Amino acid sequence: MPALLLLLLLSLSMGGELVPCSSAGEGQFAFQGFAAANLTLDGLAAVMPNGLLALTNFTLQTKGHAFNPTPLRFLDVNGATNSTAVARSFSTSFVFAIVSNYDGLSDQGLAFVVAPTTNFSTAIAGQYLGLLDATNGAASDHILAVELDTIMNPEFRDINSNHVGINVNSLISRKAKPAGYYGDDGATFRDLMLNSREPMQVWVDYDGQARQLNVTLAPAHEPKPRYPLLSEAIDLSSVLTETMYVGFSSSSGVVSTHHYVLGWSFSLDGPAPPLDFSKLPALPRVGSKHRSMVLALVLPLATVLIIAAVLAAASFFVWRRRRFAEVREDWEDEFGPHRFAYKDLFRATDGFKNGNLLGAGGFGKVYKGVLPGSNLEIAVKRVSHDSRQGIREFIAEVVTIGRLRHRNLAQLQGYCRRNGELLLVYDYMENGSLDKYLYNNNGPTLDWPQRYWIIKGVASSLLYLHEDWEQVVIHRDIKASNVLLDKQMNGRLGDFGLARLYDHGTDAQTTHVVGTMGYLAPELVRTGKATPSTDVFAFGVFLLEVVCGRRPIESGQHNNRVVLVDWVLEHHRNGSIIDTVDPRLMGKFNTDEVTLVLKLGLLCTHPSPNVRPPVQKVMQYLDGVQLVPDLPSTYMSYSMLVLMENEGFDSYIMSCPPPGMTICSVSDVSSATVLLDGR
Ligand SMILES: *[C@@H]1O[C@H](CO)[C@@H](O)[C@H](O)[C@H]1NC(C)=O
Ligand SMILES: *[C@@H]1O[C@H](CO)[C@@H](O)[C@H](O)[C@H]1NC(C)=O
Ligand SMILES: *[C@@H]1O[C@H](CO)[C@@H](O)[C@H](O)[C@H]1NC(C)=O
Ligand SMILES: *[C@@H]1O[C@H](CO)[C@@H](O)[C@H](O)[C@H]1NC(C)=O
Ligand SMILES: *[C@@H]1O[C@H](CO)[C@@H](O)[C@H](O)[C@H]1NC(C)=O
Repeated sequence: MPALLLLLLLSLSMGGELVPCSSAGEGQFAFQGFAAANLTLDGLAAVMPNGLLALTNFTLQTKGHAFNPTPLRFLDVNGATNSTAVARSFSTSFVFAIVSNYDGLSDQGLAFVVAPTTNFSTAIAGQYLGLLDATNGAASDHILAVELDTIMNPEFRDINSNHVGINVNSLISRKAKPAGYYGDDGATFRDLMLNSREPMQVWVDYDGQARQLNVTLAPAHEPKPRYPLLSEAIDLSSVLTETMYVGFSSSSGVVSTHHYVLGWSFSLDGPAPPLDFSKLPALPRVGSKHRSMVLALVLPLATVLIIAAVLAAASFFVWRRRRFAEVREDWEDEFGPHRFAYKDLFRATDGFKNGNLLGAGGFGKVYKGVLPGSNLEIAVKRVSHDSRQGIREFIAEVVTIGRLRHRNLAQLQGYCRRNGELLLVYDYMENGSLDKYLYNNNGPTLDWPQRYWIIKGVASSLLYLHEDWEQVVIHRDIKASNVLLDKQMNGRLGDFGLARLYDHGTDAQTTHVVGTMGYLAPELVRTGKATPSTDVFAFGVFLLEVVCGRRPIESGQHNNRVVLVDWVLEHHRNGSIIDTVDPRLMGKFNTDEVTLVLKLGLLCTHPSPNVRPPVQKVMQYLDGVQLVPDLPSTYMSYSMLVLMENEGFDSYIMSCPPPGMTICSVSDVSSATVLLDGR
């Protein structure tokens, strides 16, 4: 029976890396992993070689306990008789994870326990959590437990199958709430799934003076929420005895589940020492254990049923494994934290349902999703990659990119790899990509201050990539459709590094030009070598796009291609540059700013890379710290230059169907190469 509650404990010994404590000495400890700790363990509890404490393993209906070996003085009896002794304040924090092979279904749960003994020989497993016997406790048990309960047991009046409760001498909680935590405003509440397989941290704080017990829960790595999940007025003086043991109790029922504790700290009369997450042991990877779990469940059944069930299960899991199969190589381990399980992404996006499709770009389709457990909104980009070539460098770059932090960059959360496919996980951006505001005649548009704000934001992210970060990062695909708008309409540059995946291994013979037509600097087309200056070129085209509300290459009359840069340049020469401003602005704009941006756009798209300003200068022009210099009189139009230098390129432009399209597939690239080489 499922259900559980918790409380309590038993004795165990634990060991682990112990950071014994400070001068506070007795009554304080911190274990970041338990490899060197000296816990009192019993039942299924065991410390893994890496220091992870497993309270249960896949054995059915058994208890597991782990206790700090030394009893602690919980009652302050100085000058008092036992009947007037006051329970001391204490504080504990621990990181746990519940890992089962079924999504959303796990056994019983676990509890943090304060108990007078570590001998739980009479307690029952299953829903009794190894804490109490079938009488469900009495005042003489002197047990305080904070249960993390993942099964709803009506006999214990459980509120649901995912709750946190405070229990005193009973598996019926005094107080319980669904698992989750409050935002710092005290109003928003985020749900957590206790058995999500993700580590979570719990804080239990008792104030002996105020006689108040608080329990707080949060995902691992997140700071302690300001407001506790549970806050209960309770006087522990009458519950606890003079000396008590602290530890954990858990039990298995029928669903094979591991209840893990990764780290634990405790203190009497003061806050529990903080845990150092970098020192906590890693959780084992789940996956491919489905079979053993299925067997464990099915064993009690008749042989025939077992065979049938195993066959069915086997084919299910083969199907499932194939469905969720990933590609993972040893070298990727160092990138561990950035790796997502395909299954999670599959679930997050409802199986990549079309309804969740946010868009389809050159490199692949993008889906909206909500990560189970954390409820984090994400955008998942599926990119097909045929070749193994370059993937390692690319993933190294993904990791680098994941470390980039700037308020105008779309944050990359991580990736997942499957056969022939790469999935990139980004923060979800409420307002989508900028291009739909620029080119969609029926949709919403942006006023000038918004456009100027977005331009400056993108420029500052580019400055960060080129100059401010520890190494120069070249974006390679700056364009309006790669600028995403967050809730506050800040522009955030996304999708970097992708182009790199496709042009890795560039050499003179196999120049793969990747980027988007209309944004490619002439020398990039020629040499295939991306530089900060080719990024500035694309940024210049982007500036013109945003001001003019036009694509970099549009079809004009008679199927003529109009190159935006040339068109603006011509107006500039004729003194009518203001005529190029997007008519949707209805003349409402700051003429100086618009002129500045247009001139800057032309300067950045100068065919000669030496004339283009570095992004630092670009920023100064945009901030008005310096005036944009006049364009050199030798400025040649983009297409004229290309024509002179490379006839093949021109014919490629002509033959490239929808203008502004990203060259995405390797076959596209090689056809481009053929054309380019055919000059
Ligand atoms: C662990 O506990 C045992 C028995 O209490 C004791 O003999 C031993 O020295 C302890 N080891 C450490 C590392 O504290
Ligand atoms: C579970 O843990 C117990 C005690 O550590 C051990 O004896 C048993 O072999 C383990 N069982 C499984 C299935 O891992
Ligand atoms: C409190 O009770 C314990 C036994 O429960 C006894 O050993 C201890 O001496 C008592 N302390 C006081 C101050 O009465
Ligand atoms: C635990 O308690 C039981 C009964 O309460 C007793 O029989 C057993 O000897 C105790 N075990 C230890 C290790 O003290
Ligand atoms: C418990 O939470 C309440 C409400 O946030 C707070 O006022 C109180 O100080 C907390 N007590 C402890 C012991 O953390």
